[in-house]
Amino acid sequence: MAGSTHNSCIHPYSIAMAQIAISAAAVAIAMALPLIVMPLRVGGDTSPVQPPIGMPNCVTLCGDVKVPYPFGLGQDASCYLPGFNLTCNTTGSRQRLLLDTDGTLEVSYIGDGELPFFAVQRNGDIKVELHADGNGNGVFSRGLRLDGPYTLVSGVHELILTGCNVEVTILNGNVTLASCTSLCDEQTSDNEISLIDRCSGGSNGCCRANIITPGYDDDGRSQVYSTGNTAYDVQLRRLGGWNRSADRDQFSMRVFVADRRWFDNTSVSNDLLQTRQPPSKETMAVPLTLMWEVVGHPNSSSVCKSNHSERINGTRGGYTCGCKEGYGGNPYLTDGCKDSDECKWSPATNTCYGECRNTEGSFTCQCPAGTTGNFTIPGG
Ligand SMILES: *[C@@H]1O[C@H](CO)[C@@H](O)[C@H](O)[C@H]1NC(C)=O
Ligand SMILES: *[C@@H]1O[C@H](CO)[C@@H](O)[C@H](O)[C@H]1NC(C)=O
Ligand SMILES: *[C@@H]1O[C@H](CO)[C@@H](O)[C@H](O)[C@H]1NC(C)=O
Ligand SMILES: *[C@@H]1O[C@H](CO)[C@@H](O)[C@H](O)[C@H]1NC(C)=O
Ligand SMILES: *[C@@H]1O[C@H](CO)[C@@H](O)[C@H](O)[C@H]1NC(C)=O
Ligand SMILES: *[C@@H]1O[C@H](CO)[C@@H](O)[C@H](O)[C@H]1NC(C)=O
Ligand SMILES: *[C@@H]1O[C@H](CO)[C@@H](O)[C@H](O)[C@H]1NC(C)=O
Ligand SMILES: *[C@@H]1O[C@H](CO)[C@@H](O)[C@H](O)[C@H]1NC(C)=O
Ligand SMILES: *[C@@H]1O[C@H](CO)[C@@H](O)[C@H](O)[C@H]1NC(C)=O
Repeated sequence: MAGSTHNSCIHPYSIAMAQIAISAAAVAIAMALPLIVMPLRVGGDTSPVQPPIGMPNCVTLCGDVKVPYPFGLGQDASCYLPGFNLTCNTTGSRQRLLLDTDGTLEVSYIGDGELPFFAVQRNGDIKVELHADGNGNGVFSRGLRLDGPYTLVSGVHELILTGCNVEVTILNGNVTLASCTSLCDEQTSDNEISLIDRCSGGSNGCCRANIITPGYDDDGRSQVYSTGNTAYDVQLRRLGGWNRSADRDQFSMRVFVADRRWFDNTSVSNDLLQTRQPPSKETMAVPLTLMWEVVGHPNSSSVCKSNHSERINGTRGGYTCGCKEGYGGNPYLTDGCKDSDECKWSPATNTCYGECRNTEGSFTCQCPAGTTGNFTIPGG
């Protein structure tokens, strides 16, 4: 079969495959984060010289988060692809890697070149500017623009609203991605039912709705519309017929976009639905997974710079880069894709039960000298 897995490249041959791969990979990344990040912290000095992850003379570390090209920091435009510049805020007690200049999206992990996903944390709820009529508007992040490289990973996020007698909608350009309504009745403050169950019903001070990303056109590209400035805008509508000043005494009105597992954590949902004090800082660190794609780059100069690299079509008419089978590393850098040692984890990854020998871009397997048999079978 052509799509064997000697390296970690994703080859999404069809949209359906891509969506499954993307969601699965995002979940895998999110789940594996603690495992991946840990060795980076402790193993730094003991390993041999690592290949560079960024352009020459560019900073590639902010706090303990690695910043591989196409991402980059600072003013020097040679350090990043257009649109992939991040900011490292060094003034606080720890360095923070920020995706937008207003500091709402903090990057907590970027995959090693090949997987176009990264984990971010949104600090706080989405600020909604209320108009005199009680309705309002907000922006998810000024760093995420409709024509920019970043989008929310499909299938893993939801819209959450706390508050009484309000309706919230999230839009991508003019496309509605999710909407939900929260009503409150007199008994809201009794808590016989679990708080999470309340939100499923949307009648007790909160609601949540899965975010459905835009569909695909005939060429299999995601339909991203070019109206509006930011990729995700939020609209809030007060529902009439209630005493609004009484409504406001109940749960504070807050809007979140989050990884679906965040609100399932009862310490988070309990904290958001209590009225004694503002939610804690820990609660308000909201996890999300974004993906990227090179969009609007001139066709004449591919950003897949490395030998043994290839383009992988994206979902919005752009593309990402991968190393070809048998290679691994950063495909965006000249000579970034290195031969992978297929024999390192033998036979677990390549069913070579004989003598495994790594070759450029591949490997050979043979029975030990003086023996014959079938080396793909244990004891064969
Ligand atoms: C990236 O660079 C542009 C243009 O210089 C700038 O407007 C933007 O604020 C930068 N973004 C970040 C996150 O530093
Ligand atoms: C960096 O973060 C600090 C503390 O959060 C903030 O006061 C400051 O404005 C930030 N600096 C920049 C350049 O964003
Ligand atoms: C959304 O905007 C696009 C581009 O401007 C337009 O073609 C489309 O008709 C709009 N859709 C709706 C439902 O308004
Ligand atoms: C709305 O509720 C507040 C507080 O409960 C009360 O003071 C006010 O009189 C009520 N207004 C109306 C129009 O019922
Ligand atoms: C739930 O949230 C709390 C506070 O935000 C956090 O400390 C804890 O690790 C979370 N639990 C799980 C299982 O994610
Ligand atoms: C790149 O080429 C494709 C078709 O090969 C074309 O549809 C697209 O508009 C081109 N993009 C740019 C930025 O020139
Ligand atoms: C990259 O490939 C080209 C053409 O196949 C070759 O001439 C060049 O030596 C290769 N560079 C490296 C670093 O392997
Ligand atoms: C990727 O997109 C290009 C044009 O944008 C198309 O010619 C090519 O067939 C696509 N490749 C795959 C594997 O879908
Ligand atoms: C070795 O065993 C595998 C799996 O049973 C089989 O597909 C393959 O044909 C065998 N090769 C030889 C040379 O007998």
